[in-house]
Amino acid sequence: MSILRIPGEAVRIVVWSFIIWIVLSTIIPQALVKYTNIEIQTNKYTKNTYPYNSLTSPTPLPIQNSTVYFIVGHPDDEVMFFSPSIIEISKVKYNNHVKLICFSNGDSVDESMGKIRSHELYESARILGISAEDVIVLEDEFKDGMNVKWDSNLIKQALVANVDMNDIETPKVFITFDESGVSNHPNHISLYYGTINFFNTYFKKSDNTNKLNSIFVLKSLNFWEKYSFTLLNNVELFVDHLSKLLINNILKLNANINITFFSKKNFKSASIFIYSDLNMLSVSYAAMSYGHFSQMVWFRYGWLILSRYLTYNHLIQLA
Ligand SMILES: *[C@@H]1O[C@H](CO)[C@@H](O)[C@H](O)[C@H]1NC(C)=O
Ligand SMILES: *[C@@H]1O[C@H](CO)[C@@H](O)[C@H](O)[C@H]1NC(C)=O
Repeated sequence: MSILRIPGEAVRIVVWSFIIWIVLSTIIPQALVKYTNIEIQTNKYTKNTYPYNSLTSPTPLPIQNSTVYFIVGHPDDEVMFFSPSIIEISKVKYNNHVKLICFSNGDSVDESMGKIRSHELYESARILGISAEDVIVLEDEFKDGMNVKWDSNLIKQALVANVDMNDIETPKVFITFDESGVSNHPNHISLYYGTINFFNTYFKKSDNTNKLNSIFVLKSLNFWEKYSFTLLNNVELFVDHLSKLLINNILKLNANINITFFSKKNFKSASIFIYSDLNMLSVSYAAMSYGHFSQMVWFRYGWLILSRYLTYNHLIQLA
């Protein structure tokens, strides 16, 4: 009996945390927009996109009017780690052009798997909102493997070949793994060093013609944070709602201080925090479970439910 009780408790916590998360991430923000947005109130719209809320810090998202390259190692990295960022940055209101470069076809299990998995990447990208011509899979240059390091200069060359280097008008944003590679995966870590190498060679800020370009890395979460499901999001979203409520409604401070939890900019380097709502999470689930069907072994369902990466991304700007 007592053996059954512990998983029961855990399941209860996860379910309740999820319900609270739906309220904080989706119901409250959408209700606030519905009851405060003048366009919705009057049914007169000035833009071609519905006033849809976003949970980002800073607000509005600074990545706009750009070509954004997501640089990942394997088919399914884009969903399992980057989906909140991909979905948010792709929203029509930001006017970005999102592209995805995947350095392997994910054939570490067997060569014959490569074709299936690269095809699945196109399916998943389509669900996430990236069309096939914006997806690049490098089929055989880089070998997928838990103990394979990829050469930084080869990564640089591959990026030069696949990034539109001639378009110097549109700002470029490169987003990849950080130096811990989410789970210390050597392929991911190689992409961190290779992408920095590429960026420093061609897009250094000191070069005035290129000062619009930037590079971000996805902050790797420690074990407890990684598997915190929506618990930490709940705390952060709650504090944000509460602080806004206090400042705007109760204290009636229309002061020029924005003490919202989200607007904090106190990191050494610029950070962007992106939180999914239920609609965005549904898209991530669809991309993973339907797009990457071959990867949906039983434990992946558990991973999808517990992983914080599905609802939260912390991007750190390096340059
Ligand atoms: C993006 O372009 C639009 C339209 O030109 C402009 O209003 C907006 O300020 C730009 N966004 C940023 C962050 O530069
Ligand atoms: C606070 O936020 C409002 C609305 O987002 C903005 O207009 C204002 O400039 C901000 N004030 C400061 C000091 O950042």
